Amino acid sequence: MASVADIGIDLGTSNVVIYARNKGIVLNEPTVVALERDTRVIHAIGREAYRMIGRTPGGLMTVRPLQKGAVADFELTSTMLHHFVVQVIGKRMFSRPRAVLSLPSGINENEKRNIAAVMFEAGVRRTQLLGRPMAAAIGAKIDVGDVYGSMIVDIGAGMTDIAVISAGNVVTVNSIPMGGDQFNEEIERYLAKKHNLKIGERTAEELKVTIGGAIPREEQLYLDITGRNMISGLPKLMRITSDEIYEAIDEPLTQLIYAIRATFESTPAELTNDVYDSGIVLTGGGALLTGLADAISQELSIGCRVADNAQACVAIGCGRTLENMADFGRYLNDRR
Ligand SMILES: Nc1ncnc2c1ncn2[C@@H]1O[C@H](COP(=O)(O)OP(=O)(O)OP(=O)(O)O)[C@@H](O)[C@H]1O
Ligand SMILES: [Mg+2]
Repeated sequence: MASVADIGIDLGTSNVVIYARNKGIVLNEPTVVALERDTRVIHAIGREAYRMIGRTPGGLMTVRPLQKGAVADFELTSTMLHHFVVQVIGKRMFSRPRAVLSLPSGINENEKRNIAAVMFEAGVRRTQLLGRPMAAAIGAKIDVGDVYGSMIVDIGAGMTDIAVISAGNVVTVNSIPMGGDQFNEEIERYLAKKHNLKIGERTAEELKVTIGGAIPREEQLYLDITGRNMISGLPKLMRITSDEIYEAIDEPLTQLIYAIRATFESTPAELTNDVYDSGIVLTGGGALLTGLADAISQELSIGCRVADNAQACVAIGCGRTLENMADFGRYLNDRR
């Protein structure tokens, strides 16, 4: 019988990432569904649906079934998850794989049970849950079992989890409802206020990723974008500079740094000292913002680095747990 790959899944509010045992990342797709407004018939899931955001033909709409770390639409979350899992494991009747799943922190017990049922329907024999900070830390290759304290900051789209881990325990955790999405929203707000320019979500994302940064750039960059003039209602082409984006994202950046500082204040002194020695590790797609680790480092006078493969760390952590149950199995919460 062909071997069945067990899978690790990060069900994120912006991306679903799946790691197959002994293979690595096999799926990384946006958490978006495109469906018919009236009948709710589904037209696309994932990457294809993301491309439709802001340009849906009449009658269609795009939905993010998970938002701000919680389930916004349970039915669509289930359909999407089922679709991705079947895509990875194929249709299985006899040899069912097992799964380790990491969920946003705002998901309640009832939803967890129902999600495990969806996994079973999709062909998974057994699903166990792994907390997000622990998954991110294992995925970032932090030695989570060591008594020496480590700080992991997972910056997603809608949530940021800040945790201090020591001796296999999450000693302090601070989850704040902000992440990369807030940066995009601030960019939209800034351009509306400064230039009367209305831009879409995908344009804000493009500005952030290509010319945005958490510290001023030495060399000014720019990007030409098209938005809608809010006064005339007509399309307008504008050149936006990196300094403008830097200014636009000042507030969420300050909030993020403030939350990290607050986490230190509620952490035992010995562990804080450990973190001062070894530095903070950033994971999640939000960690990829240019200069973010440097900005945190400067503000808090502490080392800070972005983990390898930052955006996939949570899924990698779930996958590594499946590959090494002897070391990491004890961090799982059971959920059949
Ligand atoms: N190069 C980049 N620069 C800045 N931000 C980026 C970059 N690449 C991705 N991001 C941001 O990362 C976020 C997505 O990260 P990730 O995939 O980790 O989120 P998620 O796990 O789905 O969300 P959550 O953990 O909140 O549920 C988005 O807000 C995106 O804009
Ligand atoms: Mg995430």
